[in-house]
Amino acid sequence: MSLFSQMRMPLVVAPMFLVSSPELVIAAARSGVIGGLPGPNARSLDSLGDWMAKIHEALAPESLPWLFNMIVHPTYDRFDGEVELVKRYRPAIVSTALGSPARVIDAVKSYGGLVYADVITPEMARKSVVAGVDALILVTQGAGGHTGRYHPLAFIAEVREFWDGPVGIAGCISRGDDVAAMLVAGADFVVAGTRFIGTDESFASPGYKTMLTESSINDIVESKTITGVTANWMKRSLEQAGVPLDALGQETSVDFSGNAGSDDKAWKDVWSAGQGVGVVERTEPCQAIVDQMVAEFDQAIGRAASLQS
Ligand SMILES: Cc1cc2nc3c(=O)[nH]c(=O)nc-3n(C[C@H](O)[C@H](O)[C@H](O)COP(=O)(O)O)c2cc1C
Repeated sequence: MSLFSQMRMPLVVAPMFLVSSPELVIAAARSGVIGGLPGPNARSLDSLGDWMAKIHEALAPESLPWLFNMIVHPTYDRFDGEVELVKRYRPAIVSTALGSPARVIDAVKSYGGLVYADVITPEMARKSVVAGVDALILVTQGAGGHTGRYHPLAFIAEVREFWDGPVGIAGCISRGDDVAAMLVAGADFVVAGTRFIGTDESFASPGYKTMLTESSINDIVESKTITGVTANWMKRSLEQAGVPLDALGQETSVDFSGNAGSDDKAWKDVWSAGQGVGVVERTEPCQAIVDQMVAEFDQAIGRAASLQS
């Protein structure tokens, strides 16, 4: 049975660097969806261990799944320590970003966990399938954080030529209608980030949350300059941090050795959001957003069914 069949809606609250907190993961699970936590959000491996213990203690007795997100890029220096924590706290899903999922598959499968790979091209998707992942997350155009560049409809169609296992879509999923649309288009689940940055439970600063509510699609700019990997940013946060907008075309080197404890300007002062940001109108609890999205989802599915009669 698919993990998502136990959910109110097949949605993962995305793991987000410097935004996702243990409280958000727990709130997402108790709201009836799956919450994600990226390893680098904790300042040290010790504090990550404390967070994972807290999540595990809260959710394991209720049999609620959660997702742990790992950077598998060779420059990430906490990789081995995080693998040990994964084996101890056994998150139901481990998702991998910025590299090959092959590095974690044996460890996660050893306790019956599932490995999902974030991919931005059909080639990456093929390699992940060969490595033995359980699901693919297609990161598509307009996504918050490190974005993809392909339209979800075209990307799903290409991946379906060689993979009939579970497919998730990440990118601009802000309303229940968007979830329904992606399922009709052939996805099995979705991953939503931007819609949940402004939750009460997130680590985002008050300034970040306010800017989100004031921003729309036109305020989002895509650039490789900040982290070396193409990502979407709120233009006003770049201006505030003194990043010249005319420098956004420049490339920088990729280095993921940092974690939440480093004083890297990217993500701390320069704030990411995806093109779906226009839907965010206020700061509210995770549960309120999930309730609203579930109501929209049910209505959208009802509308789709009525087209047939
Ligand atoms: C602020 C922010 C930080 C993110 N950090 C991560 C991360 O650490 N690991 C990861 O796999 N994805 C990360 N993402 C990407 C999300 O997992 C997801 O693909 C994206 O949020 C989906 O697009 P949406 O924001 O339009 O919903 C981040 C996204 C945002 C907005």
